[in-house]
Amino acid sequence: MHYYPSAIALLDMELLTVFLFMFANLGFSFPTEPQPQGNREWHMTSDVTEIAGKSYDYIVVGGGTSGCPLAATLSEKFSVLLVERGGSPYGNPSVTDKRYYGFPLIQTDKYTSVAQTFVSEDGVSNVRGRVLGGSTAINGGLYSRASEEFISEAGWDKELVKEAYEWVESKVVFPPVFLSPWQSVAEFSLLEAGILPYNGFSLEHIKGTKVSGSIYDGFGRRHTSADLLDAANPKNLTVLLNATVKSIIFHHKAIRNKTRAHGIRFMQSNGSLDETYEAYIRKPKNSTSRGNVILSAGALGSPQILLLSGIGPKEHLRKLNIPVVLDLKEVGQGMQDNPCIAIFLDTMPQNRLPDPPQVAGIADDFKIVVEAAIIPISTNATRVNIAAKVAFPSSKGTLELSNTDPRVNPIVKFNYLASESDMEECIKMSQLLSRIAKSKSIAFFLGTSRQSKLMSTQDLKQFCRENVRTIYHYHGGCSVGSVVNRQYHVQGIKGLRVVDGSTFSKSPGTNPMATLLMLGRYEGIKILREREAKP
Ligand SMILES: Cc1cc2nc3c(=O)[nH]c(=O)nc-3n(C[C@H](O)[C@H](O)[C@H](O)COP(=O)(O)OP(=O)(O)OC[C@H]3O[C@@H](n4cnc5c(N)ncnc54)[C@H](O)[C@@H]3O)c2cc1C
Ligand SMILES: *[C@@H]1O[C@H](CO)[C@@H](O)[C@H](O)[C@H]1NC(C)=O
Ligand SMILES: *[C@@H]1O[C@H](CO)[C@@H](O)[C@H](O)[C@H]1NC(C)=O
Ligand SMILES: *[C@@H]1O[C@H](CO)[C@@H](O)[C@H](O)[C@H]1NC(C)=O
Ligand SMILES: *[C@@H]1O[C@H](CO)[C@@H](O)[C@H](O)[C@H]1NC(C)=O
Ligand SMILES: *[C@@H]1O[C@H](CO)[C@@H](O)[C@H](O)[C@H]1NC(C)=O
Ligand SMILES: *[C@@H]1O[C@H](CO)[C@@H](O)[C@H](O)[C@H]1NC(C)=O
Repeated sequence: MHYYPSAIALLDMELLTVFLFMFANLGFSFPTEPQPQGNREWHMTSDVTEIAGKSYDYIVVGGGTSGCPLAATLSEKFSVLLVERGGSPYGNPSVTDKRYYGFPLIQTDKYTSVAQTFVSEDGVSNVRGRVLGGSTAINGGLYSRASEEFISEAGWDKELVKEAYEWVESKVVFPPVFLSPWQSVAEFSLLEAGILPYNGFSLEHIKGTKVSGSIYDGFGRRHTSADLLDAANPKNLTVLLNATVKSIIFHHKAIRNKTRAHGIRFMQSNGSLDETYEAYIRKPKNSTSRGNVILSAGALGSPQILLLSGIGPKEHLRKLNIPVVLDLKEVGQGMQDNPCIAIFLDTMPQNRLPDPPQVAGIADDFKIVVEAAIIPISTNATRVNIAAKVAFPSSKGTLELSNTDPRVNPIVKFNYLASESDMEECIKMSQLLSRIAKSKSIAFFLGTSRQSKLMSTQDLKQFCRENVRTIYHYHGGCSVGSVVNRQYHVQGIKGLRVVDGSTFSKSPGTNPMATLLMLGRYEGIKILREREAKP
């Protein structure tokens, strides 16, 4: 283990880092005044009757992390309807203003808040976005690309992946102008704990301690995935807000025994369940190829919509009296959430400004990722926090419907730490956190040093079981290779795809947002190219 000689030497280096961040351009150009968040030339409506009965080339369900870049890209050549159950993120300071980072998570209600809470069967409380921009409107905003290994395992085209990342980065990703005091201290504490080398600013997933990108700009304003809609062809994009998709409409051709997604059924998010509306996939006159319904409703939303539409394990569907369209056992399987341990470093709540994560420690041969933040616990009090996650959990769980209301959370179980290897990693990560927490840098920052007793492996196991929580990187439910194929088509159904975090059969190891934004752009381009090839 390498330790730096003293906190003073570290502080010197840190000042230099801060200095460099203030003056180096890092290849990005900084605007001299705040850029507008969203030009919004595209049409946005909450009037369901305006959309009812209309046809589009593509219908994207869920205006989240993957859904927005996907809809923007498809609109370059085709007419697109994007349906989002939540409202607009614009003009909502708890979404757009860094000073309110974390506020959506403490301001929740059952049907309308921008963050919707859920508690998994494991007893761990969790949250998902319910607003245009999806979880990018409520998350930590830390942006980090996936490793080359993850990209080649996914079978993606490397060049196109790079282009897609860069497209996203040119619009909504920013390097820090300077590190906040707490992020600087956290960076130091990671180095002190031996998470080396120090890599400075990097968007890549590399071993050691780095400063990453963020969707917060230098003016402290969040750029959600909704800002990517500004790249759309505004004449061919319609965004329907406050409308919840209930199910997919299918057509079955008996002669060819083929089922095709023909459209969607939706309701007003604040409306009554039996007042439903429909929108359809347009059938082009002189072309054999047709558009798709594409689910981008997230790891909970997409499997939920498939189940509500009759695609899933037939025993489960029958229990809820849902007519079976396709008995697809793997829908809702393979749910994963990275086990996380988070500790408060301060002894009591204070009124420091909230501070989203910007620094990441990638430790134990990529198996552990550490981040630090200051998070609000109420509207006037925050806590200084450090958190680590198991990057590649092996435990998996399931998702089932609790009822047929699309607005109600499905039942999810992640089986945190069920496997021996996840538990081993959790123990290592707790020990690492304890070393970080005792660092001189943190003691200096908080003005107190942390005492902690040495715990036995047995104690640490117990500690992990009692304290495991989420870092919100859950995924799965419509995994590639089981529910969808490598082109993201739902197996056995025509004209239906899923593109979002539900398709991950494995965690990208790093924070997933960058790769889900990229995936929306990537699949959009793939689809455009495919259509070009067969007019
Ligand atoms: C609190 C929090 C902090 C996080 N911090 C980070 C971080 O710092 N860095 C990082 O990389 N990742 C972070 N993540 C993870 C990351 O944000 C998510 O993995 C990612 O945003 C998920 O993208 P998605 O496209 O799969 O789903 P989402 O972005 O959640 O999009 C799904 C969309 O579908 C909509 N929808 C769902 N059901 C329906 C329906 N029936 N009808 C219509 N619309 C529907 C939802 O309202 C939502 O807008 C965080 C997540 C959370 C929740
Ligand atoms: C429900 O939402 C729609 C648009 O989203 C709005 O026009 C309507 O007034 C709302 N109804 C109620 C009862 O709040
Ligand atoms: C919108 O998409 C259609 C294809 O459905 C295309 O024919 C049309 O030219 C597009 N309109 C614009 C304004 O780009
Ligand atoms: C959409 O829903 C949100 C959340 O309920 C609400 O604040 C907003 O006013 C609604 N928008 C419209 C246009 O009805
Ligand atoms: C039609 O397809 C389904 C699913 O692929 C299959 O289970 C069924 O046996 C087929 N029916 C006929 C008549 O071929
Ligand atoms: C369909 O064919 C007509 C006549 O050949 C052509 O003018 C038109 O642009 C075509 N439309 C599309 C959508 O390709
Ligand atoms: C927050 O407000 C409450 C009630 O007004 C007060 O009791 C508490 O001390 C405040 N907390 C901080 C950290 O300022």
